[in-house]
Amino acid sequence: MAGALKVGIAGLGTVGAATIQILNNASAELAARAGRPIEIVAVSARSKGKDRGVDLSGYRWHDNPVDVAKDPEVELVVEVMGGASGTAKDLIEAALALGKPVVTANKALLAAHGPALAALAEAHNTAIAFEAAAAGGIPVIKALREALVGNKVRRVSGILNGTCNYILSRMEAEGLDFAQCLKAAQDLGYAEADPTFDVEGYDTAHKLAILSSLAFGTEVDGDAVYVEGITGVTPLDLEMAEELGFRIKLLGVAERTEQGIEQRVHPTMVPRSGQLANVMGVTNAVAIEAEPVGTVTLVGPGAGGGATASAVVGDIVDVARGNLVATFGRPSGDMAKPVRAPMQRHEGGYYIRLSVLDKPGAAAIIATRMAERGISLESILQKGRDHRRTPNGAVPVILITYATTELLIRNAVAAIAEDGVLDGAPQVIRIER
Ligand code: HSE
Repeated sequence: MAGALKVGIAGLGTVGAATIQILNNASAELAARAGRPIEIVAVSARSKGKDRGVDLSGYRWHDNPVDVAKDPEVELVVEVMGGASGTAKDLIEAALALGKPVVTANKALLAAHGPALAALAEAHNTAIAFEAAAAGGIPVIKALREALVGNKVRRVSGILNGTCNYILSRMEAEGLDFAQCLKAAQDLGYAEADPTFDVEGYDTAHKLAILSSLAFGTEVDGDAVYVEGITGVTPLDLEMAEELGFRIKLLGVAERTEQGIEQRVHPTMVPRSGQLANVMGVTNAVAIEAEPVGTVTLVGPGAGGGATASAVVGDIVDVARGNLVATFGRPSGDMAKPVRAPMQRHEGGYYIRLSVLDKPGAAAIIATRMAERGISLESILQKGRDHRRTPNGAVPVILITYATTELLIRNAVAAIAEDGVLDGAPQVIRIER
């Protein structure tokens, strides 16, 4: 058997500790599969003394994570610290500059600096592997970069944040409030160190930007993603969604359109009978629509130590086998600059929830504003005077539109708000059928 692959791990949080556990518990099996042993030789984290449930005594400790890259014995650097810049970036750059491959779960970093890091890796004849950076335990990076390489991808969409899906699922099923569900997701190790990344949609956006790059052969363009999180979704929206045959999911969608590549993350009404609507809890799902294969949907655990470490270990074994492909699936110089499709041109159906003051003519004004812009209504749902009436005497009115554009919807909603018939801001949620 070939000599051991010597690994250094920076970051010993939920994912780092779970990675060590897998490498130790399955060492013989992994050595057989990789054709050589995999040996952890060095680690680094913020605090040396903390109990992580793993024995670190056999590994060299580095206070500074960058020293893991510089450790002469380390051949592969595993970065599971997180952070879009700072030490994680310094560490990865140091490793690549020394020609050492990197395995990372750091989607924020790749979304912000992916093209530059890929070019650096290439210049030093190495690469970055990042299966754990999108959709946790689902092998979607490998699917897009390798297994589906014979296809032209049209669209990638899905549920890419376990924390948000967990929160929305529990809020709906158990009537719990947002804060309670977020706390539970944090306790289970699903959430980012800063959970606003999850609930404001940025984590999904980072993952989507990475998937989009692999799908379309374009440079990662994290700034191009339109982002809305789930913090504005109310129990009333969840109730109305159910009544109308929908469920609300935080979706990421990347799609080729005539205007360019559209990348968007937002709460979405999906039909209750559909596949995505029934993906609950921390589970993620990614649908890849491509020619000639058709639609491939991958479903699995999207967050948590075990699921994410499963992906990290998959990448480590790839490196041990010498199976290192170009970071984004093709040479950096061949990645196209993406043309951004503006969100204003997005076309689709919309759910609009208005809190309408109970006065004559209000409904006519709303209908007029929609008609003026050629927006066709599929259904209108008005609740009676006693249903969720606001102190100012407003009641919910829900409009479901046929396909129209984001620009027209925004204009119509702004005009209705100016007409003085509303009590509070309108809620707009996009529909995907
Ligand atoms: N915070 C992320 C999530 C972890 O909830 O999906 C996995 O990337």
